[in-house]
Amino acid sequence: MAEFILGFNKESLIIKPSPKKSPLFLRMIVLMFAMVFGVYICSICLKQISIETVTKFESIKVIGRPSHETKLLEIPFKHYPMPETFSRAECARNPVRFFAILSMQRSGSGWFESLLNSHKNVSSNGEIFSVKDRRANISSIVQTLDKVYNLDWFSSASKNECSAATGFKWMLNQVGLMEHHEEIVEYFNRRGVSAIFLFRRNLLRRMVSVLANSYDRYAKLLNGTHKAHVHSEEEADTLSKYKPTINCTKLITDLKEMESTAAKAIECFNSTRHMVLYYEDIVKNRTVLKDVEEFLRLPKKRLKSHQVKIHNGPLADHIRNWDDVKNTLTGTPYEYFLHSDY
Ligand SMILES: *[C@@H]1O[C@H](CO)[C@@H](O)[C@H](O)[C@H]1NC(C)=O
Ligand SMILES: *[C@@H]1O[C@H](CO)[C@@H](O)[C@H](O)[C@H]1NC(C)=O
Ligand SMILES: *[C@@H]1O[C@H](CO)[C@@H](O)[C@H](O)[C@H]1NC(C)=O
Ligand SMILES: *[C@@H]1O[C@H](CO)[C@@H](O)[C@H](O)[C@H]1NC(C)=O
Ligand SMILES: *[C@@H]1O[C@H](CO)[C@@H](O)[C@H](O)[C@H]1NC(C)=O
Ligand SMILES: *[C@@H]1O[C@H](CO)[C@@H](O)[C@H](O)[C@H]1NC(C)=O
Repeated sequence: MAEFILGFNKESLIIKPSPKKSPLFLRMIVLMFAMVFGVYICSICLKQISIETVTKFESIKVIGRPSHETKLLEIPFKHYPMPETFSRAECARNPVRFFAILSMQRSGSGWFESLLNSHKNVSSNGEIFSVKDRRANISSIVQTLDKVYNLDWFSSASKNECSAATGFKWMLNQVGLMEHHEEIVEYFNRRGVSAIFLFRRNLLRRMVSVLANSYDRYAKLLNGTHKAHVHSEEEADTLSKYKPTINCTKLITDLKEMESTAAKAIECFNSTRHMVLYYEDIVKNRTVLKDVEEFLRLPKKRLKSHQVKIHNGPLADHIRNWDDVKNTLTGTPYEYFLHSDY
């Protein structure tokens, strides 16, 4: 907006009235600018209203600072880090965007991260806060974040000098993030970090995945090794042979809790620049990834992952006490979990 006004001033400086031109002509010009400006403001208002009326389960939402499109407000999100451990060399003039994927276990964040990392300019460094010391207190959290955003963090995903976006994934239900959310929101806003929320719509499928994964931690179905993610159909088949039993006594409570964890996180981070993604939407339509590239201002690339989905087909095939689960959820707002494909 300010930019527009600046431009306006500059224009009016250039179009200096020649002595012959009548004051009427000048007034007409001013009037025209006023009209254009009015239409511009109206269009912005309309845009904001339409953002607000977006329904709860729109496939994708970019909320936060409503006019982050304008170049002026872009500036806090453009960074030129100077790592201590190497030189950014030929890419030193390219801006870097900072992001954090905020998600929950078994919501497709590993897959999403592998898609992002297939972009040659993205470094998403994994679940760095799985190490306890790094999230012991807010100073160790900040220290870790500083290192990541200074590009001094090394993981198999680091692209070093030519990163155009750098970040990591953070689990909402892991001690640290929500406990210190006020300081973390302050950090995100101060350092210009954008949050990418990744959730799963079908929380029943997520529950199956959580139970199966935790079973495999002990059972180690793949020749004695535990795998959280697989890269072949055979491995997926082997892992999906185990059918968990779901405790129906607390099923509804558990589902509600997952929902409120997600809602609370979005609320806490609502002052940061953020977007909300759903796993199912990416599975159904990969063009959602273009919105992510746009959000991070990345050059558009085809993103690929070698990961293979573990639980395919109807949920009835993956839950031991299917009939109980079906009876429990039928007639509740969660009934559609029973039937959806992903
Ligand atoms: C924060 O945690 C780190 C790692 O556990 C520890 O070394 C440091 O002393 C702690 N700092 C404070 C202020 O508690
Ligand atoms: C992406 O990386 C390539 C090198 O792999 C580099 O030439 C290019 O400038 C980078 N693009 C951005 C936007 O940083
Ligand atoms: C696991 O064992 C099966 C046979 O039981 C074999 O076909 C497969 O190649 C093994 N996989 C790995 C990764 O060793
Ligand atoms: C199911 O959950 C309830 C409530 O938390 C608990 O009392 C019960 O023992 C659980 N049942 C099984 C089989 O784990
Ligand atoms: C963010 O959430 C808080 C707490 O619910 C609320 O008071 C505030 O109005 C929200 N801000 C925006 C920009 O939505
Ligand atoms: C996929 O999503 C994009 C917007 O992100 C939309 O324009 C397109 O029509 C969708 N395609 C399908 C097949 O749903």
